[in-house]
Amino acid sequence: MSFYITTPIYYVNAEPHLGHAYTTLVADAVARFKRLQGEEVFFLTGTDEHGDKIVQAAQRAGEDPQEYVDRISELFRTTWPLLNISYSRFIRTTEPAHKKVVQLVLQKIYDQGDIYFDEYQGLYCFGCERFLTEKELENGLCPDHKCPPTPLKEANYFFRLSKYQDWLVQYIKDHPEMITPERYRNEILSLLKEDLGDLCISRPKSRLTWGIELPFDKNFVTYVWFDALLNYLSGLGYPDDPKWKSFWPAHHVIAKDILKPHAVYWPIMLKALGIPIYRQLHVHGYWNINEEKMSKSLGNIVKPAELIERYGCDQVRYFLLREMAFGLDANFSEEALKRRINADLANDLGNLVFRTLTMTDKYFEGQIPSPSEAQKPEQVLTQKTLEVVEGYILAMENFQFHRALGSLWEIIGESNRYIDYQAPWALMKKGQRERTATVIYHALEVLRIIGICLWPVCPNAAEKILENLGLDPKEELKLSRAQKFGLLIPGKKTRRGEALFPRLEEEKGTKALKAKGQTPKDKEPKEQKLLPIDEFAKWDIRVAEVIQAEKVPGTDRLLKLLVRCPEERTVIAGIAEYYSPETLVGKQVIVVANLKPAKIRGIVSQGMVLAAKDAQGLKLIVPEQPVQAGAKVG
Ligand code: MSP
Repeated sequence: MSFYITTPIYYVNAEPHLGHAYTTLVADAVARFKRLQGEEVFFLTGTDEHGDKIVQAAQRAGEDPQEYVDRISELFRTTWPLLNISYSRFIRTTEPAHKKVVQLVLQKIYDQGDIYFDEYQGLYCFGCERFLTEKELENGLCPDHKCPPTPLKEANYFFRLSKYQDWLVQYIKDHPEMITPERYRNEILSLLKEDLGDLCISRPKSRLTWGIELPFDKNFVTYVWFDALLNYLSGLGYPDDPKWKSFWPAHHVIAKDILKPHAVYWPIMLKALGIPIYRQLHVHGYWNINEEKMSKSLGNIVKPAELIERYGCDQVRYFLLREMAFGLDANFSEEALKRRINADLANDLGNLVFRTLTMTDKYFEGQIPSPSEAQKPEQVLTQKTLEVVEGYILAMENFQFHRALGSLWEIIGESNRYIDYQAPWALMKKGQRERTATVIYHALEVLRIIGICLWPVCPNAAEKILENLGLDPKEELKLSRAQKFGLLIPGKKTRRGEALFPRLEEEKGTKALKAKGQTPKDKEPKEQKLLPIDEFAKWDIRVAEVIQAEKVPGTDRLLKLLVRCPEERTVIAGIAEYYSPETLVGKQVIVVANLKPAKIRGIVSQGMVLAAKDAQGLKLIVPEQPVQAGAKVG
């Protein structure tokens, strides 16, 4: 099976920034995921180098257009390796091969009568490089560039979009998956309720020469969008290279700003050419910076190279894919990035890898131990891991990267808790070496599965994890191997390696200290109010046994527990991120039983479960030995 994915080709009037990096990263993560699934992938990115905007930018830089586009295009090309982008081809619209394809297509469409010559009078925006309709203006200004358009009368060539409008509406309705997420499909369907008109696809040379000459009229160059969209075909070697037929139709990744050219012009161009429509258009939202639009004038452009230099490639990749719900806007801040690096990468994942490999070293001379029979906790861990891997796969297939990573971190949490509960260090002390081997083997197996699934997002860390398990990433990086448990071969050498994700120190010191449960030194401890003992006697605290446990639908945090203490009651507990329901049934917990009932998500909660939280996570308070359900605590 082959899979073709593209990014927009970026204008060379600006240097690469966070927005470009995100789109390119999405395409890369998907490309890698498809490679994990064994597909042959072609991944295209590049630069869009013609048009007014570019000429103006070159003038501002005091450079000749060709010199200027060469320089900025190179900046894009050299930024992507820093982000570990595994593209197959980098295309530039100034390449002769691309120009040839544009001319070939124009000639074909012209010959079949889909392009006509006409005089047009209208309001032209040089920023948008197109005529605007009266309706599009806001207070007489271009809504994007906030400047008045210029009245222009020009003879030009037009592409008959209107001829294909009804066909397009029907096609989108018949192919609900074509534009995703659904909100963007709806946006296009509602836009298509109005008359499209035809598209002006030429610019007279009297006004612009930096473009591809129309093959049928030397006095004009091609409108930059008509030229740019064709990169998706020319980049594949269309029409001569057989590769294009084996990879087409494409998956295009874009942001919402360029939805119309991709969802309206492009499918109509393909239809006019007699080429199958692309497979899917994946549209994401915009990154804002500290709640503000990213813009040169605000001076808040985030440069990917600088971020990577400061925080590391995998860290930036993880953050961007974890933080944005694909399709919606998201906010970028360095504080949020640091928080995620420390909590998710250093603590949760880093810790799991480190402690598991350290124990393998210490107890089994750095070799994968041989497990004996899996008991209930191993069965639960195995089942949960394999189930969550399926959720991860589904989410990745649907471009829901934040969900996919949420799933992976569920497995990480589950495994950390499994180790806490099984406490291999205590088993070793008791001389239970066989049981310890079983526990460590299972923890290592989970690491193997995490290593595979993490690869599309954090390729470096994923490969290190696999190498530390004594595996060859080239052999191991197959998704089917993450869908099976128990593939590690006992006896193979492991390696502890260095910390995967070093912890970042909090600049002001207060947060990190708090997280470790210490009081910052520069602050006086708060005066504590002391209570008389009879205040404590008012609390009815009891031992309760969990009979049933389930997730509260629509939340990530809440579990609904049915407990016996000794009467049965329902308690809602905010522990779902730390405990999966099936691990709780049969367990004894401590509840406060005389709280006023509270309605949470429509469910009446009759009590509160006690737990303690520190930087390592949340742990339930449990009796040291089983006690009769209902026994009073005090
Ligand atoms: N050259 C055209 C695209 C032609 S494709 C045939 C173009 N170039 S661009 O340089 O302006 O890039 C726009 C794209 O950059 C967006 O669609 C998106 O992929 C990315 N982003 C630019 N700013 C962004 C954000 N603030 N947030 C997220 N992505 C953004 O349009």
